[in-house]
Amino acid sequence: MKNKDEKIGGRMSRVDAVLKVTGGATYFAEYEVPNLTYGVLVPSTITRGRIKNIDTKKAESAPGVLAVLTHVNAPKVPAYEAKEPSKTSSGRGPGMMAFHNDEIHFNGQPIAMVVADTFERATYAASLVKAEYQEQKHQTDLKANLAKGNVPKTNKSLQDYQRGEKDAYKTAPVNLEEEYVLPSEVHNPMELHGILAQWDGPDKLTVYAKTQGVKMTQQVIAETFKLPKENVQVHSQFVGGAFGMSLRVWPHEIATILAAKKVNRPVKLVITRNEMFTIAGYRPHTHQKIGIGATKEGKIVGISHWANVQNSNYEEFTEATVAMTKFMYQIPNVNTTYRVVPLDICSPIPMRGPGEATGAFALESAIDELSYALDVDPIELRIMNYPEKDPERDLPWSSNYVREAYKMGADKIGWSNRSNQPKAKMEDGMWVGYGMATGTFGAHRRPATARACLNANGTLLVQSAASDIGPGTGTAMVQIAADVMGIPANRIKFELGESNLPDAPIQGGSATVASVGSAVHEACMELRQKLVELSGNALKNAKVDTLVYEDGKISSPKDRSASITYAEVLKRNNLPKLEVIKESKLSEDQQKKFAMYSFSVHFVKVHVHPTTGVVKVKHAVALADAGTIVNHKTASSQMMGGAVGGIGMALTEEAVIDHRFGRYVNNNFADYHVPVNADVPEVDVLFVDKKDPYTTPMGSKGLGEIAIIGMAPAIANAVYNATGKRIRELPITPDKLI
Ligand code: MOS
Repeated sequence: MKNKDEKIGGRMSRVDAVLKVTGGATYFAEYEVPNLTYGVLVPSTITRGRIKNIDTKKAESAPGVLAVLTHVNAPKVPAYEAKEPSKTSSGRGPGMMAFHNDEIHFNGQPIAMVVADTFERATYAASLVKAEYQEQKHQTDLKANLAKGNVPKTNKSLQDYQRGEKDAYKTAPVNLEEEYVLPSEVHNPMELHGILAQWDGPDKLTVYAKTQGVKMTQQVIAETFKLPKENVQVHSQFVGGAFGMSLRVWPHEIATILAAKKVNRPVKLVITRNEMFTIAGYRPHTHQKIGIGATKEGKIVGISHWANVQNSNYEEFTEATVAMTKFMYQIPNVNTTYRVVPLDICSPIPMRGPGEATGAFALESAIDELSYALDVDPIELRIMNYPEKDPERDLPWSSNYVREAYKMGADKIGWSNRSNQPKAKMEDGMWVGYGMATGTFGAHRRPATARACLNANGTLLVQSAASDIGPGTGTAMVQIAADVMGIPANRIKFELGESNLPDAPIQGGSATVASVGSAVHEACMELRQKLVELSGNALKNAKVDTLVYEDGKISSPKDRSASITYAEVLKRNNLPKLEVIKESKLSEDQQKKFAMYSFSVHFVKVHVHPTTGVVKVKHAVALADAGTIVNHKTASSQMMGGAVGGIGMALTEEAVIDHRFGRYVNNNFADYHVPVNADVPEVDVLFVDKKDPYTTPMGSKGLGEIAIIGMAPAIANAVYNATGKRIRELPITPDKLI
């Protein structure tokens, strides 16, 4: 019999767990390469202007130093020389050209890279590089620059949107208009960013990278250096967390490749925690305003949503901050406005649940505020305005069990203990509050290819150039293959994280299981079909659609004599192996017929200390309507991780800039607070676990982003329920409550 944990829907443990906990998993910075040298970056100390002069002499003569790379002496980059846009590969290129000219766009922008024979010597020499600048006045304060917002040029879906009447909320019997502010947050995965680059002659390059897409990194580097793709090998088998920060190639990666060219030796760059704040992206500081109005009975009449999002001054970044407002509730009159505000700061990059999480904080806070204004339970208000179909595109949902999720979560958190009046309950001397909020994210699926190769001994090798930044992608893929093929998981190997493997999309936007998993599923189905075709007369009496694939053999429950092992099929056909390569994608037709979204609902119970204003999340329930759950163990971990990220958003995380200098003041783990174990309560994870008939062959929908999206507003709503204080600017620190 098949091990049920190795079937789709099981709880199989991670295939790489032992490697990870024993140090056997190799991350980019750990590769042993002969002749390795070490790069250290020198940051700009001004925020805007030009480099007048850069003095590298002292650094060059320091012990062990091989080169100091600057805009003056850096090797030429073919794509830059050709004056091609610095953005390559649909915006996943470096955006800003490394060491290309004397312009300074933000504080901390690398102006030089010192390469030495040890990291310590490079670090010391970097301190000897001195620059003179021609400084210009800078702007890093979003609030002071709100009026400078631009309509985004690069994203059509974020043009001004209107359905029905404009600002209809204003004339509704019950209405409110409020502003919601999210600070910058920084991904801060445990693993620092960087790259190890090694040239083999003038036109062949190998890199060990921290990336969410080996194919993406390969393509960007190939385009930047005008090399054939196959001349660029990217290795990234293990990634120690990313949360979006590795969805592009950053300028310092190009700089490292240039340095390796300059010194003609491999160069490794691992940026510092400080640099993780300044040069590797963040969730952008965002000002939002929501106007919402309803009838006295609670029917929402109109909603308006404005978002102003911090950007860099050298490229445009957009995210779907106002998207959820268009379809989450049945509202006849909707208008949204999205503006990007260029500032002298590094570009943002998607951070878990990206704009949807930012937007949900505003939308789901406003819905909660409306529920108090109407004196109706916030779950009831949501159910009253539930859209039977997608009101934005007028399409049926591929699946939507959000109402079921409300009920499951309410039962689990003990919603009946909640008072609809704020500041009504105390427990152990603490104000008690309950809150909930909803999240949603597109159930995306992108084209992906998998190779499945059955060996003569009955083992299976499956390959695709997917990334696994931590969610357990390899595990889910083995499980899908084990389920379809009926081969025990310990006889299946899934290879990922290498650019020479079959095509896979970036690991972003919660789409890997849907994309790569579907390719694995389809490749294995085709392998089964081939085995039947090659089975000769062994199955001649059995109907194909009644065949069972289990324990490495095909059999028919109806006819006991009809049975043959996979190994025997190969042997009889004299085949050393049987291979299938399958490209899988969702038909455009299907995509046009259904609105495909995953949904989450978060419930929390908080305690708030009446004197100090300290908020403690006592209990959290994280629920997902994400179709069939492929692996309950790894999916639960995803949901817990997202809930922890949401606690950070709500209560602790804020990257603070001193605008006088344009510089972060809390760019380290001592001052930037990510939640620690003591901040995290019991998190109960629940899944609706109902198959989506249209998204993927497994019936699954994406999970990674929704895990965080509703969590921060759920906490803000619970804090209001506990204290009667509505905090509209995150994080909810004690000073805002006392
Ligand atoms: Mo995710 S923000 O798409 O890595």
